[in-house]
Amino acid sequence: MKDAAPTTIFLKDYTPFGWQVSDVHLTFRLAPTTTRVVSKIHFAPNAEARAQDFFLHGEQLKLIRAAIDGVDVTPELTAEGLRCAVPDGPFLWECEVEIAPAENTALEGLYMSNGMYCTQCEAEGFRKITYYPDRPDVMSVFTVRVEGDVPVLLSNGNPVGKGDGFAEWHDPWPKPAYLFALVAGDLVNFPGSFTTMGGRKVELNIWVRPGDEGKCAFGMEALKKSMKWDEDVYGREYDLDIFNIVAVDDFNMGAMENKGLNVFNSSAVLASPETSTDANFERIESIIAHEYFHNWTGNRITCRDWFQLCLKEGLTVFRDQQFTADVRSAPVARIENVAMLRGRQFPEDQGPLAHPVRPESFQEINNFYTATVYEKGAEVIGMLKTLVGDEAYGKALDLYFDRHDGDAATIEDWLKVFEDTTGRDLSQFKLWYSQAGTPRVTVTENWETEAPDQVRGGGRYTLTFTQSSPPTPGQEEKAPQVIPMAVGLLNPNGDEVVPTRVLEITEGTQSFSFDGLASRPVPSINRGFSAPVVLERESSPEERAFLLAHDSDPFNRWEASRLLARESLIAMITDNAGPDEAWLDGLQRLLRDRDLDPAYRAMMIGVPSDSELAQVLYERGVTPDPDAIYAAKETLAQVRAERWADLLPSLAAEGAVDDAYQPDAEQSGKRALGAAVLYLTTRLDGGKAAQAQFESADNMTLQLSALAQLVRAGKDEAALAAFEEQWRHDRLVMDKWFGLQVGATAPEKVVSRAETLTKHPAFDWKNPNRFRSVLGAMAMNHAGFHRKDGAGYRLLTDWLIRLDDLNPQTTARMCSTFQTWKRYDADRQALIRAQLERLRDKPKLSRDTGEMVARILGN
Ligand code: TRP
Ligand code: ZN
Repeated sequence: MKDAAPTTIFLKDYTPFGWQVSDVHLTFRLAPTTTRVVSKIHFAPNAEARAQDFFLHGEQLKLIRAAIDGVDVTPELTAEGLRCAVPDGPFLWECEVEIAPAENTALEGLYMSNGMYCTQCEAEGFRKITYYPDRPDVMSVFTVRVEGDVPVLLSNGNPVGKGDGFAEWHDPWPKPAYLFALVAGDLVNFPGSFTTMGGRKVELNIWVRPGDEGKCAFGMEALKKSMKWDEDVYGREYDLDIFNIVAVDDFNMGAMENKGLNVFNSSAVLASPETSTDANFERIESIIAHEYFHNWTGNRITCRDWFQLCLKEGLTVFRDQQFTADVRSAPVARIENVAMLRGRQFPEDQGPLAHPVRPESFQEINNFYTATVYEKGAEVIGMLKTLVGDEAYGKALDLYFDRHDGDAATIEDWLKVFEDTTGRDLSQFKLWYSQAGTPRVTVTENWETEAPDQVRGGGRYTLTFTQSSPPTPGQEEKAPQVIPMAVGLLNPNGDEVVPTRVLEITEGTQSFSFDGLASRPVPSINRGFSAPVVLERESSPEERAFLLAHDSDPFNRWEASRLLARESLIAMITDNAGPDEAWLDGLQRLLRDRDLDPAYRAMMIGVPSDSELAQVLYERGVTPDPDAIYAAKETLAQVRAERWADLLPSLAAEGAVDDAYQPDAEQSGKRALGAAVLYLTTRLDGGKAAQAQFESADNMTLQLSALAQLVRAGKDEAALAAFEEQWRHDRLVMDKWFGLQVGATAPEKVVSRAETLTKHPAFDWKNPNRFRSVLGAMAMNHAGFHRKDGAGYRLLTDWLIRLDDLNPQTTARMCSTFQTWKRYDADRQALIRAQLERLRDKPKLSRDTGEMVARILGN
């Protein structure tokens, strides 16, 4: 385990490494508990760095031999690496270490998953493979020889040699160690090929365990689409003869962009209509795109240090979001992205874990692969593009690739290409990278029919914006940021009188006027969610219903519905009010509009999550009661079901698909509408339609949405048993089975079900997907998890304590469930605090979990 004594690393302390690495030769002799790694590395003094000791990172390595220029040396070993006296000039470092991949449960470094060897080196896992300057600004050309008695032996780059029991790989592109990868095992490939715009024919493979070949076709198509898209939209061409993807069952995150050898959590690549939902297909497509896009944004141009993580992640998320918007429906994709930002990033930014998009200090970098770095990082790029315009964005990106290819770059470098392209000063914009917290923007308006300096006839409409950012850990005071606010104005008939215009807010308080209007307009503000802020504006339900009916901006039309639903639920919770009639009527009209995309209408039916409602109540000074939130949502669903009883059958018919299953936007939109309808219908028919759908379903989307409603209705015993019988052989489908019965069930049953499932013979808790499917799903079930007696908190903590000894990374990530604890009442806070302290005080607490718990507790 990692040393629990925490040291903090600071951005301001960055210093370059004292040597350059011209080339690296690695030989692996694979054996489950006695793998030997032999390295030969040429070091040369780095003239630009200041003098320093020669230090190589290394953890949990057994040093067998080390030599400099052929002469054995005895380095000084520490828990973090080794120090050694070295010559003044260039020298050859040779080293042999022994490691035990079969005993590596942390899934970082070289480890084994179902008999297969694989690696995960980002961020700092390479140091568990051999001694090396394991930092992203040390880039080198790697040649790798893998020896082992398994049929498939893979590494980065191009294959250069192969024989009985060995394979050799050469990656011509200099890369940091975190992009190193090795995979070896009894694997089969699903082949494909792609010819690049420059005429290079690239061999493509998806490598899987025998039996999974039937789940690769979709991923392969997604890969080809991504390669083409990056050529068409960014002019970026692939740069090796081969591109390999491997599916691994035991993996801490979604996937990893190792050069030429992407490693994927099997849940993020394997798909078939029978075993995967539409949502799975969409996620897989975007993750494959994401990892592929990293080849340029991450690999060819990497990060100088880990504080610059958003340089590659924010940009690559932005690119994968653009891709999804292009190949699916742009408005639907935007709404999904914003819902995800609000659901995951806002709570982070509004709680004890808040940190800037570019953090300035950390203890464990693994804890900063966050929604803030990824998703807010992408929003910041979206704002930059909005501010400079599409054309300048394209030019700036060309300059970025041109100027920084082969570099380990910084956010300063990134912003400089925009400044050089546009002549703009981006120093204030840069605050988005350094100030944490979600800015709040309050809007007031003024309407004058006879403004004194009015040039044109008619009235003047003025919008006044006031921005502020609440304090976040370590940042009390915030300066005003640059906020691109997209605004359109509608006249009382619902026609657009001022089309979308981007107002650039730079001051604490700032006004913008629109002259020459015939009548007082209705504003549509922050269209397309042009800035990731919380907008505060007094507006009536009538005005929201008006925007719901007329707004030409699809995002804000959806937003109007969301706000109506939210305020209706809040009033139900706090004032015992009945549901908002204006919303129910307006939505009903919209649902009947067959010109609107079914996917869009499906999203309109949705209401804010329990957790979002809890946050809003908390911000308004009301202590959220999870049971009351749950009850209000149930009531509202019942009301909608009854109110729309006549409409539901025709919507269900629209949601039906007759053609053969395709996971495309059109069909999945229909099925999404069908699922949203089934959620309501089940409240009227007690589960009859759901049962029928469950029995006749020939794809996982329909089967699972039916099962979800049966679970919700408490009529799930037979269906759960049948599902288990049908799918017990399929790990990914069984993850759904575990997750659903905890995630969708009534609050009072959540914890006991989760506990029962942890005793199920198939509950393989060392597998992160399975662990999350039960404990993660429990924590996501808001009312169930926040049970008054604290049983949910206790059960989760029991398991986190257990997992921390094996897999600190996944344990630490799951601690963030507790980040919202200060919202709740004193009793619940005391119960959560007790669990956090129990976790904090456990023997041999990992550095990862230690840092998270300390931040959440607020020390
Ligand atoms: N760089 C990866 C991505 O975004 C994510 C990643 C970082 C990761 N650290 C990891 C994946 C550890 C698996 C394990 O695409
Ligand atoms: Zn990424």
